[in-house]
Amino acid sequence: MPARPEAAITEDTSLLKELNRYMWGSGDYEAVAALVLKDAQALVADARVRPDHQVLDVATGTGNVAVEVAGTGATVIGLDLTPEHFDVARRRAAEAGVEVDWREGDAEALPFPDDSFDRVFSTFGSQFAPRHDLVAVELYRVCRPGGLVGLCNWTHEGWTGRFTEITAQYFPPQPPHVMPSMKWGDEAYVRALFEPLGGEVEVERRRADYPFLSVDALMEFFAANFGPWIVARRTITPPERWAELFAELRAMTERFDEGRGSTLVRPEYLRVLVRKPRAAAV
Ligand SMILES: C[S@@+](CC[C@H](N)C(=O)[O-])C[C@H]1O[C@@H](n2cnc3c(N)ncnc32)[C@H](O)[C@@H]1O
Repeated sequence: MPARPEAAITEDTSLLKELNRYMWGSGDYEAVAALVLKDAQALVADARVRPDHQVLDVATGTGNVAVEVAGTGATVIGLDLTPEHFDVARRRAAEAGVEVDWREGDAEALPFPDDSFDRVFSTFGSQFAPRHDLVAVELYRVCRPGGLVGLCNWTHEGWTGRFTEITAQYFPPQPPHVMPSMKWGDEAYVRALFEPLGGEVEVERRRADYPFLSVDALMEFFAANFGPWIVARRTITPPERWAELFAELRAMTERFDEGRGSTLVRPEYLRVLVRKPRAAAV
């Protein structure tokens, strides 16, 4: 197992994580998560989770993956930087009649021993931690030999990647140790993160479905519910620039609209399955 990259560990990202927590804790993430529930369900089904499995859902949010996994009878921990999500997550688990162990934690420093889980998942989550090399080492480290790391990562080219890039242009640049989240949607990049660790990587480009009555309805939904947009609106300077950013995001969204009579945006993501081989017999 390669050592954790020490150079990256020395960077102080605590303020950034406070900001991330504030951002993801704003708005109504449960409403947004409903749009990607079917993608979480497909990942869990394809990863063949069994009732005797121990499972970790990293950056669980309001628990899309964790609740689905618990429904299979497996034992699951849902971990997130933003414990503000856990009231909703607990309610969802109770409604589904399942138990999940919810834990506050950081994808860059998972609080578990090596080889703890049969499945380690993260849907549209761990890609937002700043130091990707640390995250990959951690996801892989806590996965058992013979187990699987399963990820859904938004791509740079898709709708989510476009709005991330456009929005970033209205804010000061990130420090160099904060790696761009959408790189996780690039196949060669993901292979370069996991293959040196020994992982066998399989990827597939897939698309989520965001159906709305109109582009305006989609824009209003995200402006009202989605933490990153809410925080962008609160913090942009001067405040008038929000209207400019919103107009740019709206025009971009129109270009992605595949609906006929109503709106359908289908954000692209890279689905990644990393197998951790069993140790060779000696
Ligand atoms: C887009 S949401 C995805 C949530 C959920 N996995 C889903 O599919 O609905 C991103 C999540 O990543 C979490 N997150 C961001 N950085 C993190 C980190 N360093 N460690 C753990 N969670 C993190 C946020 O708190 C947020 O809940």
